[in-house]
Amino acid sequence: MADDRYRLTYRIRYALRNPRRIRPYLRRAWRDLRFRLSGRRDHVAFYREVMRDDVASDPKKAVGSATHDRWLALGAVQFDYLVEHGLRADHDVLEIGCGNLRAGWRIIEHLEPGRYWGTDISPDVLLAANRTVQRYELQVKEPRLHLVDDLTFAWSPSDRFDLIHAHSVFSHCPIEVIDECFAHVGRILRPRGRFDLTFNATRGKEHHVLHEDYYYQPATLIALAGRHGLKAQVMDDWAPRHKQAKLRVTRV
Ligand SMILES: C[S@@+](CC[C@H](N)C(=O)[O-])C[C@H]1O[C@@H](n2cnc3c(N)ncnc32)[C@H](O)[C@@H]1O
Repeated sequence: MADDRYRLTYRIRYALRNPRRIRPYLRRAWRDLRFRLSGRRDHVAFYREVMRDDVASDPKKAVGSATHDRWLALGAVQFDYLVEHGLRADHDVLEIGCGNLRAGWRIIEHLEPGRYWGTDISPDVLLAANRTVQRYELQVKEPRLHLVDDLTFAWSPSDRFDLIHAHSVFSHCPIEVIDECFAHVGRILRPRGRFDLTFNATRGKEHHVLHEDYYYQPATLIALAGRHGLKAQVMDDWAPRHKQAKLRVTRV
């Protein structure tokens, strides 16, 4: 957990240690400024533009994997954890922020037909997700891929999902977006269902980098879940597998 990432001194030290990252950072800073000046202050609209820009160069990089091998590996890490924690073929699964199905194609393959739902705010990444379905010949599994512009789940019936999964989505979201999700997710989760999400954890000051990467104290998200009648706990057995922390949210 990086505690002082928000400090200018941390950023200067980081830049000196990683000079090759300076140019990409400046490119993102310039993009952030352009998108904000063009009036995209709503986070979903802003992040949709970020994804449009990133997917145009490479959908795998847009979801955070520099190479195909890393895309495969991080999908496997997510999927293996879900299976270890009891994901069954007859479960109904929603993946929030499914991206181009890095983990999703494995989940779809594992489930019975019609049991996977993926949502995303980015039409460009959902087109890439369609291509992943075709590449892995998963059409017979009838996955549903939905474009959304909020996290109210108004499109879903109540008590619909055994598992809701979100990897590296809330690490890109301001607190009001997570608040909206927590306010509504309890309605669509089955009583014994679970909602696993990852986030960037910090013990220091909560902050964001260029409105793209957000850092929270675990206690903030646990308290937020509690305010919406949900129970949340950090999953310690996830920690060795990935730099983001995992929170498990359940109905009380
Ligand atoms: C880093 S990618 C991760 C994609 C996928 N979960 C994976 O692990 O490959 C983040 C994804 O979350 C989506 N996203 C960001 N904010 C979202 C929101 N508020 N609701 C739904 N999806 C969102 C982005 O469009 C992007 O596809």
